Amino acid sequence: MIVGVPRESYPGERRVALVPAVVPSLTKAGFEVVVQAGAGIEAGYPDAAYEAKGAKVVADRAEVFRVADIIAQVLCYGSNDKTGEADLPLFRRGQALVGFLRPLGELKTIQQIADRGVIALSVELIPRTTRAQSMDALSSMGTICGYKAVITAADTLPRIFPMLTTAAGTITPCRVFIIGAGVAGLQAIATARRLGAVTSAYDMRPAAKEQVQSLGGRFVELPIEAKDAQDARGYGTAQGEEFYSRQRELLGKVVAESDVVITTAVIPGKKSPILITADMVKSMAPGSVIVDLASERGGNCELTRPGEKIMAHGVTIIGWYNFASTVPYHSSQMYARNISAFLMHLVKDGKLQLDSADEITRDTLLTMDGQIVNQRLREFYSLPASASAPPEDRKS
Ligand SMILES: NC(=O)c1ccc[n+]([C@@H]2O[C@H](COP(=O)([O-])OP(=O)(O)OC[C@H]3O[C@@H](n4cnc5c(N)ncnc54)[C@H](O)[C@@H]3O)[C@@H](O)[C@H]2O)c1
Repeated sequence: MIVGVPRESYPGERRVALVPAVVPSLTKAGFEVVVQAGAGIEAGYPDAAYEAKGAKVVADRAEVFRVADIIAQVLCYGSNDKTGEADLPLFRRGQALVGFLRPLGELKTIQQIADRGVIALSVELIPRTTRAQSMDALSSMGTICGYKAVITAADTLPRIFPMLTTAAGTITPCRVFIIGAGVAGLQAIATARRLGAVTSAYDMRPAAKEQVQSLGGRFVELPIEAKDAQDARGYGTAQGEEFYSRQRELLGKVVAESDVVITTAVIPGKKSPILITADMVKSMAPGSVIVDLASERGGNCELTRPGEKIMAHGVTIIGWYNFASTVPYHSSQMYARNISAFLMHLVKDGKLQLDSADEITRDTLLTMDGQIVNQRLREFYSLPASASAPPEDRKS
């Protein structure tokens, strides 16, 4: 089984799907790894490091696609909406593709991938279960994003984070408020605390309270309860506009008193709820910073401009996405471990085993034999149920 690693092509993307350190364990498990020359260079992994660990480096991208049984990428076509389409003609029927595919993004893209006969497996849909923990790429990237959001805020803020008592007087600590305490939010709390900030956080899922407190954060309780705040997978659920409007009202005071606000409140497949209005931004002290990690899906702040850093009412609002790519060495290392674990789960005895009875395989498998076979996707895109039967168990 040959795993091919093409160089990432999304503009500015610096990560790579596999790093040299995972090559020996993949080789031991029966894989061969073929890497496009320069694929790891921007993440700090030169070609020679791959070769030293037993991978083959080839110059030509098309050659990687030609020889590989499985293509491992970070941003596949789907999540790479800029240059990903150029890879489509390179795929062979029956070839597997593993990576971020943004399955709930656009039907047309997933259909195009299906039409090429690709067996596409989306890491976004890896279940959040103990068994799948080692494959959980969303958590890995969320961890890096939460960390980097705080570092970015600290770098932008005209104040320092910790309290200092010096001969030149006392400096009060910075107040950081985090909205959404999922994986990214929790890592943001831990990072802000390490830098000495007074850190508080809010999440509509009651289960988040204990996690926030265990990291030393203050949990902001609002006298409002979300209806079924958490779905069966553990994700936050979309609420009605009435709920969001009440949230904004109640969050106003905490936001006004914060020097840094980091927002991470996303709902899978939906536009992010607006939790910070323009008026709330206006109420913050000049020089304050908002980092909106929900920007890719519109953002949690009314004034966020996705992909940009702007100044409004004296407050810097950062709507950059792809923070994980700005820490490419460690995000690639984590991603590579997740992908290796996923590959070892999917491939047994040198063959791709697509077992429909297995939750991890069933949940992540998007396309096969020219069809969108994923039940959740078919429901999400309102496709007829006829072709939605789970795939036959297949050993290819
Ligand atoms: N292996 C595991 O068991 C495992 C691994 C990772 C995550 N998880 C769980 O999966 C879930 C999703 O984690 P994630 O980091 O991907 O989350 P996410 O990135 O999807 O969402 C971020 C957070 O925003 C919150 N949120 C959404 N709308 C909100 C609103 N209006 N107001 C306040 N908060 C709002 C959500 O509740 C969530 O905690 C969590 O419950 C997490 O604990 C489990």
